[in-house]
Formats: sequence, structure tokens, C-alpha cells
Amino acid sequence: MTSKPLLKAAASWLAIIAFTAACATTPAENAAAPTGEAAPTAAQAQTYADAANNELAELSELENRTAWSYETNINHDTEWLLQRVGAQATQARVRLASGAGRFANVELPPDTRRKIDLLRLALVLPAPQREGAADELAQITTRLSSMYSTGRIDYRGAQVSLDDLETWMGSERDPARLEEMWTKWHAVATPMAGDYARLVEIANEGARDLGFANVGQMWLSNYDMPAAEMETEVQRLWGQMQPFYEQLHCYVRGRLNQRYGDAIVPLDQPIRADLLGNMWAQDWQTLMPLVRPPGGRATYDTTQLLVRAGYDARRMTETAERFYTSLGLPELPDTFWERSVLTRPRDREVVCHASAWDLDNQEDIRVKQCIQINAEHFQTIHHELGHNYYQRAYRAQPYLYQNGAHDGFHEAIGDFIALNITPDYLTQINLLRRNQIPPASADVSLLMERALEKISFLPFALSVDQWRWQVFDGRTTPAEYNADWWALRLRNQGIAPPNARPADAFDPGAKYHIANNVPYLRYFLSFVLQFQFYEAACQQAGWQGPLHRCTVYGNREVGERFNRMLEMGASHPWPDALEAFTGTRRMDGGAMVRYFTPLMSYLQAQNAGKTCGW
Ligand code: ASP
Ligand code: SER
Ligand code: ZN
Repeated sequence: MTSKPLLKAAASWLAIIAFTAACATTPAENAAAPTGEAAPTAAQAQTYADAANNELAELSELENRTAWSYETNINHDTEWLLQRVGAQATQARVRLASGAGRFANVELPPDTRRKIDLLRLALVLPAPQREGAADELAQITTRLSSMYSTGRIDYRGAQVSLDDLETWMGSERDPARLEEMWTKWHAVATPMAGDYARLVEIANEGARDLGFANVGQMWLSNYDMPAAEMETEVQRLWGQMQPFYEQLHCYVRGRLNQRYGDAIVPLDQPIRADLLGNMWAQDWQTLMPLVRPPGGRATYDTTQLLVRAGYDARRMTETAERFYTSLGLPELPDTFWERSVLTRPRDREVVCHASAWDLDNQEDIRVKQCIQINAEHFQTIHHELGHNYYQRAYRAQPYLYQNGAHDGFHEAIGDFIALNITPDYLTQINLLRRNQIPPASADVSLLMERALEKISFLPFALSVDQWRWQVFDGRTTPAEYNADWWALRLRNQGIAPPNARPADAFDPGAKYHIANNVPYLRYFLSFVLQFQFYEAACQQAGWQGPLHRCTVYGNREVGERFNRMLEMGASHPWPDALEAFTGTRRMDGGAMVRYFTPLMSYLQAQNAGKTCGW
């Protein structure tokens, strides 16, 4: 690492905020040097950051192995361990974050400043330092996690888990059955409401102790700019894509109306949430057979290609790996194959929601995914390996920098790769025959399928964290949890629940990331960034045709430049990382707009004369 000059400014934006907040609330553990003591020095800050870095690196391995044990085998003992280790880890992270607050207003070299700032943000849900708070929080988070992952519903005479429901909702077209699956799954979340309200209280108290107004503000402080600026940035990005979403919504509603009729899909109303082919109406790609442009050339069906070629979970994973190695990245280690969980184990409870892991911050990378042989899971395994390749690329960084440039980068890596799964690529890996490559006249269909996946997702992602920001800052009280959830989903997505919701419903908890406290803005950002990555990569490759037909499979030059961004991890503010790969320092929806422009012209023509909106 090169040494860097002292920052001219006295402190970072984060420090200024912390200082203001600390002055207002003066929590003891957050105060700068006690009166009478000398102000802390830059050298002390560096020593502190290094020691904290090492402590967290060691702690994280314990956290990771405990969480892995729990998630791949949920039982009384693993729950106990997760609670214990979770509480310990929260205490340690809070202690380190609080200690970092002492250096808020000390002039520091940029590298030390960055580590100190990262330390203050190194936990998702803080707890206050008083006796018992971290334990209570860990009990709640563990209980919510188990409720979600062991949830089963009674459906057509069997006990059914979420992974099966998700698959069935993609192909079921009977509105009564869709409503039943949807309603029963959402009932799984009802008992979570009380725990969730308590979690919000505890974590908010913890956030205030660390100098943040609330947990939402803490999450929004992870983007190298003040939280308020980041919120404005998100609105700007959404503003770029919102007109596209409205066109897509209007077109899809029209097609669903043709299928289901006016009684079920009225043309001037929000769309029923259970009719969109996905439990959360967040990804509509399974609607493709219903909304295919009439008279448009049928394109291939990726699920069918995979099934016919006899793919299994392992082969899906190997195929995804090969994309990365084709760019010059290394093969996955043997331990990945020995230790990953790629299919649902039948003899125990597990967390089936897909995730990628780096257990020792070095070599021991794994995926846990209950892979089904379909197009969505094919994309998801590319997504998960994106996390693993990022982890592996930045492993030489100090622990505090072993992270994405921001969390949206981490989510975008694998999705960027999956955008390269084009007809041409599928022929290169022998899944599609050359004579099956759809002609240019099928472009609208190809783009439609992508739009159903990517554009439909944006207002969903926004709703998830707008809801949590409101909950954490108190605008939404526990009594309003469900009503405000649907108000946001109505406003952003133009959807409504299929039936009147019971007074005790807690529908947000039916989504993994709420029950499991995974911030969601990352996915919104990722869906914007992945198109920036893709457009830049295709330009680097000298691609000439329509953007959505480009694949950089096998392109080592692109791989080298990509790797430069990956290796940086979180060592620099994210605009530096973005610039290293794409040449630009701004997040921008322009690449996504350009990608989908031919489709939008088509949708606007189809929607002409219709009343759009809700
Ligand atoms: N693909 C899943 C999702 O994004 C899990 C993940 O983020 O890795 O929630
Ligand atoms: N994997 C994330 C989810 O399931 C974003 O696509 O919500
Ligand atoms: Zn992910």
C-alpha cells in the first residue's frame, strides 16, 4: 500500500456528524477525551484501528463458523450457539465502534480515517452497552430467523416449504391457488411482529449510543457521503427508471387483464400482488409466457434448456464458475466443493435463502443455495459466485477493507456476470444450438424477459428499505407496520394484497431480508450498477451490436480490469473502485436506460391510448 498525505480537512463527514450527535446526547462511551486528558493523537488512532482490525478478523471467523453451523442445521444447540456468539460479537463490535468515536475530530491520514469510520459502521444492528441488551437482541434475531426458515404451510394436503412455493408461484395461473399460497405464506410472519418492534427499540438505542439518530441513518451512512445526500441520490436514480417502470406496469396489467378478466385485474387499479409470478412481486420473469409480445418470435426457455441438457446443482455451479475462470480468475478451491451446500438437505432444517460465505477471510469460500434447475436459480448461482470471487480478490486487504466498495457493489458483481448469459454465450457452452439463436426480430422479447426481472425489481427494493427507514425513525409505529408496508408498495410498485389483511398481519416479515435484518438498499443500487459494469465491459471488449446481445465471456482484458476493482475491496471510497473498472465516478441509471430503450419504445406504442398508473 502506498502511503498517503494527511487529509487537509480536520475530520471526515462521518466524524462531523458523530461529533454533533455526541454533543447533543453526550453518551458517556461516545465522548471524546475526558476533560483533563490530552486529545487522542493520530498515532493512537492508527494503533487502535490496527488492533480492532485484528480483533474483528479473529472474531469474524467464530461468527462465520457459528452462523454456518446454524444455517445448515437449525436445531436447539445451533440456535443456542448463534445467540451466544451473536451477543458476544455485538458487544465487541459496539465496544470497538464506540472507542473509534474518540477519534471523531482528530486529524488523521486518510487510511486511518477510513478504518476508524468503518469501525463505527461495522455492525448492522447495534445494541446498547447496558447489561443484557445484546443478549436480548441476539435472542430475538435468532428467533426471527428460525421462524422464517422453518416456516411451512399446509397446501393441498402437504406441509410445504418456501422454496417449493416460490417455484410453484412461477407457473401456477389459478388465481385462487395463487391467493392461497400467498396468504398462507404471509401468515407465517404474523408471530414476528412483537419481536420485530422490540428489536427496533433495542437497535435504535444502540445506534443513538454510537452517535447516529437511528438504525436507518446508520445504514445510510455506509456510502462515503452523508446519509441525507445518499437518500437524495437514491431518489435521483429511481427518478431515472420510474417512467420505464410505469410503462412496464401498464403493459403487464393489460396482458394480465386479457388472461384473468376485469374482475381480477381491473385496468385502472393496482395489480394483485399474487399474480406476478413471485411471492413478493419482486421479479416477474416467470410471467414471460403470459406477456410475450403477441406475434413476436418465441425465444428459448432457459429452464427447458437446462433441464433437457440434464443439468444438476453441481453442473449449474460449475458452469457459473467457468464464466469467471474464462475472464482469467482462478478456479474455486477444492474446499468450496467439499463444504458448500448446493441442494436442500432433507434430514434437517436449514436456511434455504441463497448466500455466499467467506469463513476464514482467506481460502474457505462456500455457497449455500437450495438449487433448483431453472433460469432463476441459474442466475442466482452466478450471483453467489460473484460474492465469492469478490471475497477472494480482496483477501490480501486488511480485514476492515475485506468488503465491497459498498454493499451494492457486492450484490452487483455476479449479476453483472449473469447479464452476459446471452443467446450467443449459450451456444458457446452448448446449451443452445446455433440455429436456435433468436433473430433480431426477437429482441423485444429478449428485452422483455430482462425487464420483467430487472425493472420490476427496483420499486420493490426501494419499498423494503423505505419501510425500514420509516420504522427506525419512528414515522411508522408498530400499529402501522402493515398499513405502511402496503402504502409504500402501492405507491412505488402499484400493487395491492389479494385480500383484506388481518389486523395482526405482519406482511413485511414474510420477506427474508426483513426477518433476517439484511439491509436491502444494496440490491436497488446493484441493479443500477450492474448495467454500468456491463456497458463498460462491453465497450472495453469493443462490442458493436445491441447492448443486450453482448457477452464478454472469455475476455481476459476485461477480466483484468474487472479484477482491479475487485482487489480494492473497501480500501478506497467507492467512486475510486467504480472508476477503476468503468471510468466513471457516479452511479447512474443511464446504462440501464440505454439497455432497455428499444423495449421502451415498444411498450409506449403498446400502451398508447391506455390509462396507465394506479
Ligand atoms: N441472491 C440472494 C439475494 O440477493 C442472496 C444474496 O444476496 O446473496 O437475496
Ligand atoms: N436476492 C435478493 C432477494 O432475493 C435480491 O434479488 O430479494
Ligand atoms: Zn447477494
